[in-house]
Amino acid sequence: MDQNPRKRMLITGVSGLLGSNVAYCLRDKYEILGVYHAHTIEMEGIRTICTDLTSSDEVASLLKDFKPDVIVHCAAQADVDKCEEYPEAAERINVLGTQNIVKNLNGSAAKLLHISTDLVYSGQKDRCSEDDPVGPLNHYGRTKCRAEQVALERKGVIVLRTNFFGWNIQNKYSLGEWVIHELTHKKEVQGFTDCHFSSIYTFELAGLLDLAIQKNLTGVYNFASSTSMSKYDFVSTVASRLSLDHHMIKPVSIDQFGFKAQRSKSLSLDTQKLSRDLAVDIPTISYSIGRFVEDFQNDLPAKIRSEIKQKNIYPALLDKIPYGRQSIDEDDIAAVVDVLKSESITQGPKIREFEDALLRVTGASHCVAVNSGTSALHIACLAAGVTAGDEVITSPNTFVASANCAVYCGGRPIFADIDPRTYNVSPMEIEKKINARTKAIIPVHFAGQSCDMEAIQEIVRAKEKEYGHKIYVIEDACHAIGSEYKGDKVGACRHSDMAAMSFHPVKHITTGEGGCVFTGDKALERKLRYFRSHGISSDLAEFKNQSNAFDASGPVGLEPIQNPWYYEQHFLGYNYRITEIQCALGISQLRKLDIFCRRRREIVDRYNQAFQSVAWLTTPYEEPFCRTNFHLYVLQFDFNRIGKNRAQAMLELRQKKIQTQVHYIPVHTHPFYRETFGTKAGDCPVAERYYQQCMSIPLYPVMDDTDVERVIDGVLALAG
Ligand SMILES: Cc1ncc(COP(=O)(O)O)c(C=O)c1O
Repeated sequence: MDQNPRKRMLITGVSGLLGSNVAYCLRDKYEILGVYHAHTIEMEGIRTICTDLTSSDEVASLLKDFKPDVIVHCAAQADVDKCEEYPEAAERINVLGTQNIVKNLNGSAAKLLHISTDLVYSGQKDRCSEDDPVGPLNHYGRTKCRAEQVALERKGVIVLRTNFFGWNIQNKYSLGEWVIHELTHKKEVQGFTDCHFSSIYTFELAGLLDLAIQKNLTGVYNFASSTSMSKYDFVSTVASRLSLDHHMIKPVSIDQFGFKAQRSKSLSLDTQKLSRDLAVDIPTISYSIGRFVEDFQNDLPAKIRSEIKQKNIYPALLDKIPYGRQSIDEDDIAAVVDVLKSESITQGPKIREFEDALLRVTGASHCVAVNSGTSALHIACLAAGVTAGDEVITSPNTFVASANCAVYCGGRPIFADIDPRTYNVSPMEIEKKINARTKAIIPVHFAGQSCDMEAIQEIVRAKEKEYGHKIYVIEDACHAIGSEYKGDKVGACRHSDMAAMSFHPVKHITTGEGGCVFTGDKALERKLRYFRSHGISSDLAEFKNQSNAFDASGPVGLEPIQNPWYYEQHFLGYNYRITEIQCALGISQLRKLDIFCRRRREIVDRYNQAFQSVAWLTTPYEEPFCRTNFHLYVLQFDFNRIGKNRAQAMLELRQKKIQTQVHYIPVHTHPFYRETFGTKAGDCPVAERYYQQCMSIPLYPVMDDTDVERVIDGVLALAG
């Protein structure tokens, strides 16, 4: 056994500048677990994990599993102007994130080091000391002040007020890196002459932070260089140490800059308290710059980048660009492997854990996970009581499963035409199709964009009154995890009885095959659980033959005990159970949902920019009250104008190794529906016209920018 085990250090914000640099410096000394959220990273010698710090449950399980001795809480929204622009997001990340850590540390002896900022000071004084009152001038500073207050509720905490420069592992530059980059590329650099600070090199800061842990400091400290200089002098010092061209540095005033957030000009920090309590000399800013430059000359930034990188994504990226694909990383693989090594690979605890995680993401109150989106829709129809003679209204612009689920129950699917702008089923068309036989409506959130659920709900309520019976609304949300409708997450079921999702590999998150049903209704949840597993119950309270649950054999007079083997079948259900293996993958994937959505939107913004003004293309329309996850990017083509048909266009792109797809062949035109239900071309003219012109182009989170440009060039060349 290791006689002297290393202390366990949890670093939040490990993909950020300070988090990554501290992890890099201290990884031999501590056993480090790094937490990231938006930027997946991997670093030799440490473990990393994706966690949403704004979720108390995720933080609780992180702390419970890792049991840190020390926490260095770096994670924050530190972009000062972004905080001004998105104050609520800043509050959540900076304050709620800290609250979740402090709250969930209750009962643990872990030492918390809370990274704060020099921007909590107003800069009224020449040199700010820890005793000076705080007075932030911008929202970032205010959120950090509040976060300090939260952190200080924890006994033994160290609050580090700091400003630093070092080596970014993401594609951005801290001040020192930016100067080197710009001047070596012969670009002009502007330096503020009227803005003073005591910035410190991250590698110096990491050493001081480690010492502070050894000496068990407690309270608020300025962790900065012992001297200060203007930003102009900082730039000049870096340049002269590297013999870079001074003429390219222009002195300017910070007032000339149109920053969104106000900034103080004097942020020189007094480090006497730190020096005294650590019993060391704190390095000056010139010394700090010297070490930074020396490390640059010794190629440290390249070394860091070679040891810290984005996590591998599987399958490896190929030359071919598919229209959609899964994004699996090492965390996903590890989660699945853990289950394979565990006691249960199906019907174990991961199922509830996955369902709970899905509830947190959507805000719904009940969730039943199953083995596909199709089974989700089927049990939703069963729970709604769809049966022979019932009609179920859905969209023609969907995958066949949205209609098949009604047929499985003996129901008749009725197709209501779509809205020409959103390609979603039109509420007005639904209204026209409702009659006394209508049992359920299945609106499909095509490509991820929610249907107008409030409008549909209003229509359904009025029709329920008219016909005197309940009409269920079941959202086919198979495309829509992560999307929003009027401020709610899709799946919250505010305007529906149930919502079904799919976790097929082309969807936002995957479990291989998989799905779930959300509902706000406890009674429906109970039915869904029955139908998921053969219609069987093992719950004593639900047994119809209670006496059979107790053993009648053996001598008379014994205390009756419940038969451990006993269960009852109450309905005709199915085996639609999802496995532990799938749920472990789902839990891990769900942690990256925000990352996946964000990257998809970035790609969509670029596509829109490239295609918006092209006369023969129509780009997707997003309703103002929706925020779609962009499961698909569908373009409508005026094929006449480019003088070729769709098959030619698809083949031309395929030759360039770009795969496209068509979503969807109108369901009512399939032979099965024509032959079984007498549907025909012309039933839904808008969906049929749309079908003639639509084509989905590649969209998935791990597309890189060159893939995106290749697709754009390929599409535009179709007119050539
Ligand atoms: C709109 C829609 N509904 C239902 C399904 C069925 O989901 P699954 O493939 O998970 O059974 C899909 C699958 O692609 C779909 O796109």
